[in-house]
Amino acid sequence: FSLKEYNSFGIDVKAHRFVSVSSIDELKSVLRNNYAEDLFILGGGSNMLLTGDLRKTVVHIGLKGKKIISESENEVIIEVAAGENWHELVLWTLEQGFGGLENLSLIPGNVGTAPIQNIGAYGVELKDHFVSCEALNIQTLEEKEFNLEACEFDYRNSVFKNQLKGQFIITSVQFRLTKKEHQLRTDYGAIQAELESAGIEKPGIRDISDAVIRIRQSKLPNPKELGNSGSFFKNPVIDLESYQELVHKFPEMPSYQVSETEVKVPAGWLIDQAGMKGYREGDAGVHQRQALVLVNYGSATGEEILQLSKMIQEKIRARFGIELEAEVNII
Ligand code: EPU
Repeated sequence: FSLKEYNSFGIDVKAHRFVSVSSIDELKSVLRNNYAEDLFILGGGSNMLLTGDLRKTVVHIGLKGKKIISESENEVIIEVAAGENWHELVLWTLEQGFGGLENLSLIPGNVGTAPIQNIGAYGVELKDHFVSCEALNIQTLEEKEFNLEACEFDYRNSVFKNQLKGQFIITSVQFRLTKKEHQLRTDYGAIQAELESAGIEKPGIRDISDAVIRIRQSKLPNPKELGNSGSFFKNPVIDLESYQELVHKFPEMPSYQVSETEVKVPAGWLIDQAGMKGYREGDAGVHQRQALVLVNYGSATGEEILQLSKMIQEKIRARFGIELEAEVNII
């Protein structure tokens, strides 16, 4: 079974077997009838690089449904099944007039995998609107609820990428959204500029979503047209001392202070400065408009993309003394 259509990088690897489950009972029955080691759980396929065939049964999480759990004057709690497409969810919330997820428009992937890496963009992270998620223990088949604290969210990180890696399957997520008094986040420079150029002075949630969509479309490739997994690397966090040395050498380096002792620098800028933007070898390349995104021009293998990523890591290490860490899961 080819997984080409099931991973946004468009890598053509094969799986031994493929099942799609559309209910929790079906999922439990697959888990009961197989050894956990023989299964590979697949969500949206938008944050992974497949580097070889999988001698496993791929379980595609096709759980669907959205519902309102509770409502008050200005607040609503919604519950969304793991297999719903993220961006379609965002559009649905906007249609209902619910605010909160607008800055997270157009992020590829599904709802159930969004908490694993605490997706984020333009000043907002999933954790800002997260209430809880339901997850199924792969070994015991018990259903467990994780609240905000239990998820240990951090920048592109959560407990599901660490202590609990591979142990749970998220089946649904609850979000807290606003109905009237929306807390708009327009402080991110690119959003401000986009709203200004559209002549919008008093933006609503839809205006922000539209602005984010335009910004993303202008520099992030559409995975349907050009295989990719969004940012391939995390933006590295370095200590203040190394930062001061670097900024002395590279005064124009952008950065964001993350704590009193740490600074985050954009990996895209580092790769761009290293002259790698637009680099291509065979069908594996560095995107022309955003150096943080690696792309598959057609028939690149996962191994070729991985080699390219290693070469980038070496260049950045040599030039800036910084270790780039992959953001996508290498399988
Ligand atoms: N930059 C360059 N050259 C490039 C790319 C970026 O010089 O090729 C510079 C930009 O000019 C800017 C800075 O680097 O000064 C930051 O760039 P940008 O605003 O495009 O954001 P980013 O840090 O590259 C992060 C997220 C994105 C998210 C945007 C907007 C990570 C790893 N990436 O990118 O998330 O959309 O901010 O919030 O944190 C993703 O995770 O897949 C993703 C796309």
